[in-house]
Amino acid sequence: MADSTKNATLIFDNKTVELPILAPSVGPEVIDIRKLYAQGDVFTYDPGFTSTASCESEITFIDGDKGELLHRGYPIDQLAEKSHFLEVCFLLLYGELPSSEQLEDFEDRVTHHTMLHEQMMNFFRGFRRDAHPMAVMTGVVGAMSAFYHDSTDVSDPWQREVASIRLIAKMPTIAAMAYKYSVGQPVVYPRNDLDYSSNFLRMCFAVPAEDYVVDPILSRAMDRIFTLHADHEQNASTSTVRLAGSSGANPFACIAAGIACLWGPAHGGANQACLEMLREIGTVDRIPEYIARAKDKNDPFRLMGFGHRVYKNFDPRATVMKKSADEVLDLMGIENNDTLKVAKELERIALEDPYFAEKKLYPNVDFYSGIILDAMGFPTSMFTPIFAVSRTVGWIAQWKEMIADPVQKIGRPRQLYTGPTKRDYVNVENR
Ligand code: CMC
Repeated sequence: MADSTKNATLIFDNKTVELPILAPSVGPEVIDIRKLYAQGDVFTYDPGFTSTASCESEITFIDGDKGELLHRGYPIDQLAEKSHFLEVCFLLLYGELPSSEQLEDFEDRVTHHTMLHEQMMNFFRGFRRDAHPMAVMTGVVGAMSAFYHDSTDVSDPWQREVASIRLIAKMPTIAAMAYKYSVGQPVVYPRNDLDYSSNFLRMCFAVPAEDYVVDPILSRAMDRIFTLHADHEQNASTSTVRLAGSSGANPFACIAAGIACLWGPAHGGANQACLEMLREIGTVDRIPEYIARAKDKNDPFRLMGFGHRVYKNFDPRATVMKKSADEVLDLMGIENNDTLKVAKELERIALEDPYFAEKKLYPNVDFYSGIILDAMGFPTSMFTPIFAVSRTVGWIAQWKEMIADPVQKIGRPRQLYTGPTKRDYVNVENR
């Protein structure tokens, strides 16, 4: 537990409550209000948790003003440049970068858990072909609880570890199968001689009728997308996973809850919504119309891929993603991509506009990721499932940390009740 060397004093209604101030390793200090209700008979009010730390964590740190994202202290741009997804998974899960032996062992364990129980294919077949892959993933991942009973006891560290490896390993297989099912092609089983990203691309794009050779450029780009989305501290889906896990629910159920939350357009669903918006805009001459709509208080339209609860400078993931989009399109020989042109011009115009500057709205990770995924051949409906594949490790690392935390309790917020006070029931004939 973080140390407390000083107190905050809260004085109200002739009461004085001393609240310890906890010191983080970096970032703002945190007032510990756990005893506030017992000592002061008051709650705090913070919808959306804009000022509330819901847990103590050692995994990821974001400095929203500086535009900095650190995993276990390592900056995301260095990890995206020099590391790769499975190494980042190890770092997030175990706290340190692996030695070469540790990495080999981890990669081996993940690789040998990529297959799904064959009977689970029945679940896929039960969905309509036009089901959104996120709906399929929520269902199938939840259903893993019904297949992998030997890793659902959350009180057993070994079972937690096996469930973690299973989820990281099987998520690409599930996402790829959801895609294959939606396009009416036979599923492609994983191959152990391929790395994580190449295997995913092959499971998505290979067909039995011809050989499929994974393009190393695409594999690297895929890996970078996975790496950039791997964790993001206490975002909505991660908080959902922690909350679900706080009741002792099994890991597969918790991750299914995280997938459901991620799907929303304000969160992971923004990558799909962003590319669809860029396509709808279509040409640069239509950008001012959309900028005007985004600024109009009476129009619910928002610039997708713009803004962030924590980043008030820039999203460091977006910087890497923008560079990647340029590289991938260039290496794939895609010139004059209209969507990329619209995206760059939209970004330029928005950043010069006082509305976006005053509200500190900058492109986020989802602004450029869709352009890369689109160039790779993924339909927009697969964008958020790919985010879910990447974020699984973050959810698991945070879930494991929560289970092992001695101060962990079931999550149970309070409320500011403004409904009717107690009143007597009135029979229907008297209403
Ligand atoms: N376009 C236009 N105006 C915006 C936008 C936007 N994209 N984002 C925020 N604003 C305005 C908003 O209307 C509000 O104005 P006012 O103060 O006049 O009421 C102000 O900026 C603050 O917005 P907020 O909704 O209170 O901020 P928030 O921290 O609750 O929301 C957000 C953050 C990411 C949900 C929001 O910026 C948004 O909806 N962005 C578009 C969706 C998106 O790209 N989401 C992906 C986030 S990054 C990846 C991930 O987390 O999964």
